[in-house]
Amino acid sequence: MANSTGELAEKILNVKRERNAVILAHNYQRGEVQDIADFVGDSLELSQNAARSDADVIVFCGVHFMAETASILCPEKAVLLPDMHAGCPMANMVTVEKLRERKKELPDATVVCYVNSTAEVKAESDICCTSANALKVIETLESKEVLFVPDQYLGHYISTRTDKKIVLWPGYCPTHIKILPEHITELSHKYPSAKVVVHPECRPDVIALADEVLSTGGMCQYARRQDVSQMIVGTEVGIIHRLAKENPGKEFIPASGQAVCPNMKLITLEKVLQSLEEMKPQVKVPEETRLKARAAVDKMLEAV
Ligand code: 13P
Ligand code: SF4
Repeated sequence: MANSTGELAEKILNVKRERNAVILAHNYQRGEVQDIADFVGDSLELSQNAARSDADVIVFCGVHFMAETASILCPEKAVLLPDMHAGCPMANMVTVEKLRERKKELPDATVVCYVNSTAEVKAESDICCTSANALKVIETLESKEVLFVPDQYLGHYISTRTDKKIVLWPGYCPTHIKILPEHITELSHKYPSAKVVVHPECRPDVIALADEVLSTGGMCQYARRQDVSQMIVGTEVGIIHRLAKENPGKEFIPASGQAVCPNMKLITLEKVLQSLEEMKPQVKVPEETRLKARAAVDKMLEAV
């Protein structure tokens, strides 16, 4: 007979203790996965948490680049990704070869790489950023020209807020582009007092309609404000679980029910349990790549 959610959660807790493991979950994870996690957060918060943790094992409930970042920061820990197929299509829209070619064409540009990228691409970049700190990171740079990879929309959003010349890469998030301006205008009409909060991976015409443009962690903070009672949420729908749980009595309206990241949903309680029991699949970045990627991640952490 299949295990109930409660039984699975209890089993996970027991194996987790035996292994001295910590479970980190991204804000887009399934509700039941968020509920068994030790920490739920955005990309930046999760990597900072991984770096601080004294656990021997990190179970990363998120996508591959996030588990890689944990491995880059904590090479001595075993990093489990409960489903190895949980990738990020945007991260795969830039390759090291293509990046090297572009760098030759732009010798004066500093390469800023969104954490939604492979370890190899991070290793080839000068500094990383997340959606929570991208503008801050870019403002700390000495160079006037920046090659921003791989998200053209986050890059474009930053370009509207800085004097630096931002050269864009044609990557995008297939989930966030499903949020359209007409979704926002319709919902704003239906909920006139709702705040419109969107992720910077959204298209510029969606960003133009927002009251706030925030990382997923920023959205969770914003939702706690007293002047927010209704919020139209322009990001992946998994975040609604956390927002509703932390803010009883407030209303959170997904901008589009289509904004689902299928990769994030690959992680299930069954797979979390199995990965802890079998100690696989593990994500490990080869040392040479890790050291170079680490330099780019460290520069980001020092800058913010
Ligand atoms: P956050 O860092 O804002 O959580 O975003 C990660 C991500 O993958 C957005 O699609
Ligand atoms: Fe990648 Fe988009 Fe999924 Fe985030 S929501 S992990 S950017 S595909």
